[in-house]
Amino acid sequence: MTDFRIGELRVDGADTEARNHSSEEENEDWIKPLIHQSQGAKEFAYCPYSKFRVGAALLAHDGTVFTGCNVENASYNLGLCAERTAIAKAVSGGYLAIASDLEDQFISPCGGCRQFMREFGDHWSVYLSKPDGSYKEMTIEDLLPVSFGPEDLKKKRLFTTKNG
Ligand code: THU
Repeated sequence: MTDFRIGELRVDGADTEARNHSSEEENEDWIKPLIHQSQGAKEFAYCPYSKFRVGAALLAHDGTVFTGCNVENASYNLGLCAERTAIAKAVSGGYLAIASDLEDQFISPCGGCRQFMREFGDHWSVYLSKPDGSYKEMTIEDLLPVSFGPEDLKKKRLFTTKNG
């Protein structure tokens, strides 16, 4: 089984408040290229039904970047979000940047993706970007407060089934 380590990166000093960054601000060297890669990934979006392109780029511990785009399906509910495509490609993680064509709004991950991300910890960062490269940093805890995760399955229960 793969070692899921996304959440360990920002455990110390993680800021639960969302932070806005303008595109002109000086920041960590890797964030802008990561957002740029999420924008590049958006170009591959397969979205004939929604015509709404989304890209994602995930920076792993070893420096590898995994990109993803939304992949829709004629059976609509089988479509994949960009974030889930990137996470599934990486399986272990780091930081995730997402991009869309929305002119004046940071692309916000859907509820399903938030839960999918939360599987790998709630203290790692997601960068919600605009086409001009500006972004908002949010932790998984910001995006999905009071969440349910794999640790909860291990907690003491009042009742157990025969097999568990
Ligand atoms: N979509 C994503 O890929 N990520 C998000 O965070 C929001 C929505 C996709 C799913 C679908 O292909 C299209 O955008 C419209 O909902």
